[in-house]
Amino acid sequence: MHRFTGLTVIVTGGATGIGFATAKLFAAEGANVVIASRGEENGMRALSELKSIGGNPIFVQTDISDEAAVQNLMNRALEHTGRLDVMINNAAMFYESDFLTETTERWKAVFDTIVNGAYWCSKYAAEAMIQKGISGAIVNVSSINGYRALNQSSHYNAAKGALDQLTRCTALELSPHGIRVNGVAPGFIDTELSVVGGVNELETDWFKQFYVEQRKIPQARAGTVNEVASVITFLASEASTYIQGAIIPVDGGLSITF
Ligand SMILES: NC(=O)c1ccc[n+]([C@@H]2O[C@H](COP(=O)([O-])OP(=O)(O)OC[C@H]3O[C@@H](n4cnc5c(N)ncnc54)[C@H](O)[C@@H]3O)[C@@H](O)[C@H]2O)c1
Repeated sequence: MHRFTGLTVIVTGGATGIGFATAKLFAAEGANVVIASRGEENGMRALSELKSIGGNPIFVQTDISDEAAVQNLMNRALEHTGRLDVMINNAAMFYESDFLTETTERWKAVFDTIVNGAYWCSKYAAEAMIQKGISGAIVNVSSINGYRALNQSSHYNAAKGALDQLTRCTALELSPHGIRVNGVAPGFIDTELSVVGGVNELETDWFKQFYVEQRKIPQARAGTVNEVASVITFLASEASTYIQGAIIPVDGGLSITF
């Protein structure tokens, strides 16, 4: 049985990695997926693959760090199917930088995408759901970095920590409207985001020795995009109706160790 037949789902950063895997799972279960992503080439490629899976997908080129672009995204989604049921806030960027030499401009750019982008998407999505009388769901893709410290990542970790609080606070404020808000906190997942400075960190000796051989990750491996996407779709589905404001680690046990 298809869990999302006829529902409209927006996935930001939905053309690559975890977002694209999530978009494909929703499409396979009948959803009309709206991919919101910056890059046109990736967006069109993802759209073409989604069309072969199912639903009635569209791609809306969107930079979520721009409020007007997010409003356009919502308008396009509503024009497309007349409804909005699920908002997946997945887009993010990562790069390594020392706290002391980080620039204000780059720091703001990270917050504009991870925090402000999710804020605008959540706000305008919730407004649309309320207007249409839809008890929808919002799922925020955070990171275990949201509650753990890591060198050269203060921009990203602080932003993900803020996203976690956005998840809890919007879960509280949107509950009276029947809207559920939850999050996932992935650990090491094999995607483009694992490639830092041209090096895939999952293929480095330090990752293999510390995280795999010494089992810092209890499951001794990185996760796959589908292992995250399946939790995201669960949190958007009727199988999770009593989960509100939760942020579920999807990390092979990494965050339970020290
Ligand atoms: N890969 C991992 O190990 C890992 C671990 C923890 C959390 N995450 C989180 O998972 C999510 C997906 O990341 P991924 O690993 O699939 O990497 P990814 O780089 O494939 O996906 C990120 C997507 O976001 C898009 N994006 C970035 N800024 C944007 C903007 N301003 N507007 C619109 N789109 C924008 C990118 O173009 C890209 O398509 C992110 O939120 C990331 O923080 C990933």
